[in-house]
Amino acid sequence: MRAIVLICLLHAAHAMFQWNNPGEEQPLPETRPGGACVADPGSCGCCVMWKEMDRLTTYFNTTLNNLESQCEQTKRSLDKIEAGRDAFSVALTDHPSINCFGPFPSDRLIPYKHVFINLGEGYSVNTGVFNVTHSGVYSIALTVYSDAGAARNLLAACADLVVNGKMVAGNSEKNVHDQEDAATLVVALHLTAGDTVAVNMPAGCFLCDDVSHYNTFSGFLLYPTE
Ligand SMILES: *[C@@H]1O[C@H](CO)[C@@H](O)[C@H](O)[C@H]1NC(C)=O
Ligand SMILES: *[C@@H]1O[C@H](CO)[C@@H](O)[C@H](O)[C@H]1NC(C)=O
Repeated sequence: MRAIVLICLLHAAHAMFQWNNPGEEQPLPETRPGGACVADPGSCGCCVMWKEMDRLTTYFNTTLNNLESQCEQTKRSLDKIEAGRDAFSVALTDHPSINCFGPFPSDRLIPYKHVFINLGEGYSVNTGVFNVTHSGVYSIALTVYSDAGAARNLLAACADLVVNGKMVAGNSEKNVHDQEDAATLVVALHLTAGDTVAVNMPAGCFLCDDVSHYNTFSGFLLYPTE
C-alpha cells in the first residue's frame, strides 16, 4: 500500500515540476497531495487512492472502536465474576473423639462448626445458615454420617437440604442393621441474592463425627446471573 501511494505521489510531483520555458513562471508546488489531482487530470488514480485510504481509515477506526467497546464489556463481566467468588465448605465438628449431634425431639438446623473455607463470608457458624449474596447457579453438596455405637442399635443418619426453610433434597439412612452409615447428595440450584441455604435435621435423627469430618456441607457459585 505504501509503495503504491509513493508512486502516486511521484507521479503527482512530476506533473507539478515540469520544465518551463525561460521567463515562464514556475507553478507553485501543491502542498496538499490530494490537490495534485485537480492540477493534473493525469494523476486521477491518486484521487481514487486517497478516497480508498479514507475508506480504510474509517473502516479500521470503526473496527477498533467496536473492539474497544467489546473489550470493556468483557472486563466488566470479568470484574463481576471476580467480585462474586462465593464458596463455603464446612464440617460438623472438631471434636477429637466421636461426638454426636442429636437426636432431638424436634427438627433443628445443624450449626456446622468447622470451616474449611468461607469465601464471601456468606456462611454463619452460629446459625449454620448460608446467606446467598450473589444470584446465580450454585453447586450444593451434603454428606451425612452416623454411628449407632453398636450393631442392632437404631441408626438414623438423616438430614435435609433446605432453601428459605423449604426442603429441596434429603439424605436418609435409618436402620438397625448397620452400626455406621453415610449418604451424600449433590444438587445444582439457581439461587437469588437473599436466599438462605441450611441443613435441617429432622426429629429423631442424629449425626456423629470427630476430626475426620465425615459430615460436610458445601456450596459454591458455578456462575453468576443477573
Ligand atoms: C475514530 O473514531 C473516534 C470515535 O468515534 C473519533 O473520535 C475519531 O475522530 C475517529 N478518527 C478518525 C481518524 O476517523
Ligand atoms: C443472613 O441473613 C439474615 C436475614 O437477612 C441475617 O439475620 C443474618 O445475620 C445473615 N447471616 C450472615 C452470615 O450474613
